[in-house]
Amino acid sequence: FQSCGYLWEHSRVLLFLVPAGVPVRSGDAAFPKAMDNVTVRQGESATLRCTVDDRVTRVAWLNRSTILYAGNDKWSIDNRVVILSNTKTQYSIKIHNVDVYDEGPYTCSVQTDNHPKTSRVHLIVQVPPQIINISSDITVNEGSSVTLMCLAFGRPEPTVTWRHLSKKGRGFVSEDEYLEITGITRDQSGEYECSAVNDVAAPDIRKVKVTVNYPPYISNTKNTGASVGQKGILRCEAVAVPVAEFQWFKEDTRLANGLDGVRIENKGQMSTLTFFNVSEKDYGNYTCVATNKLGNTNASIILYGLAINSRCLGCPLLSKAHSKFKG
Ligand SMILES: *[C@@H]1O[C@H](CO)[C@@H](O)[C@H](O)[C@H]1NC(C)=O
Ligand SMILES: *[C@@H]1O[C@H](CO)[C@@H](O)[C@H](O)[C@H]1NC(C)=O
Ligand SMILES: *[C@@H]1O[C@H](CO)[C@@H](O)[C@H](O)[C@H]1NC(C)=O
Ligand SMILES: *[C@@H]1O[C@H](CO)[C@@H](O)[C@H](O)[C@H]1NC(C)=O
Ligand SMILES: *[C@@H]1O[C@H](CO)[C@@H](O)[C@H](O)[C@H]1NC(C)=O
Ligand SMILES: *[C@@H]1O[C@H](CO)[C@@H](O)[C@H](O)[C@H]1NC(C)=O
Repeated sequence: FQSCGYLWEHSRVLLFLVPAGVPVRSGDAAFPKAMDNVTVRQGESATLRCTVDDRVTRVAWLNRSTILYAGNDKWSIDNRVVILSNTKTQYSIKIHNVDVYDEGPYTCSVQTDNHPKTSRVHLIVQVPPQIINISSDITVNEGSSVTLMCLAFGRPEPTVTWRHLSKKGRGFVSEDEYLEITGITRDQSGEYECSAVNDVAAPDIRKVKVTVNYPPYISNTKNTGASVGQKGILRCEAVAVPVAEFQWFKEDTRLANGLDGVRIENKGQMSTLTFFNVSEKDYGNYTCVATNKLGNTNASIILYGLAINSRCLGCPLLSKAHSKFKG
């Protein structure tokens, strides 16, 4: 009963105190004196100290208007809250494993010479930046519009920026959680990096890959000379996303691998047509067709004859093109 009375008395005093709310400015009396605001990271522990003196008769720590400790008596049911010291000079408690909802004002409340006094300290909880939702890798057709999203959490609230990682290194493209690209071009494909930054810990960085599809474009062909009985190779290079498929035609006839002593080989952007043993009938105008799901294009490539001057075998620089296809 004594204990109950004691607590009841305390609560009455404290409940009387708390609605007053405003911390009592020290004035002539220097105590109680809580420390400056306390800043801790989520998961760490926070110590709340209150300096007192001989004249102090009752002490308590409150979280907002809830008593955590009154003297040595624990009122809080939160087992993260423990008392550290209750001496003539100091009254302090510790909160373990601090979380964001613990942030707020804590009050050290004392009674000195029958006068209630309070001192307030703010517990500030910091959280490292963390990206909590980000767009998935995406594939779009050239000319369409794309919105990338990067949502981040942290305390203080992180700054979110988007950057395009290209060889040219064009730097920041957006200082926002959302990055909108209208009429996307092939140059805008590649990796986009989202950074969430606050000053609590290292930035959280994640990447999104944007693939831009576009139809084939034949970037490189070359008319080629070959002598009868020799090997001849025609090359056709096409850039495209997705990578192009190739077909070879002579006039209206499609060439097939293995037939007529030719081989077609496709490697990435390059297709080669190889004649193992060139004969007169092979000379002519060939068409390379590059196709992907967005379209197709073609180019003409000439296989022309090279004269073999018997007196000048092994000096190909002097040999003359004699094909009707060679200008
Ligand atoms: C402080 O009060 C807030 C709001 O009621 C509560 O969520 C939090 O758990 C409390 N923290 C401690 C350490 O008592
Ligand atoms: C303590 O934190 C509160 C709330 O964030 C703020 O208003 C006050 O100015 C801070 N006091 C000091 C001394 O930093
Ligand atoms: C992320 O955001 C998208 C779009 O707003 C939503 O559909 C999805 O459910 C979110 N994912 C998570 C894990 O919150
Ligand atoms: C190339 O073709 C000619 C004519 O068909 C033939 O006489 C010759 O033996 C062939 N050469 C090789 C290496 O196959
Ligand atoms: C090759 O054929 C294409 C069309 O099939 C034509 O446009 C081009 O002029 C021809 N080239 C030569 C050298 O005849
Ligand atoms: C080559 O392209 C032209 C122009 O687009 C088209 O008319 C022609 O049919 C194409 N040739 C082949 C073999 O695809």
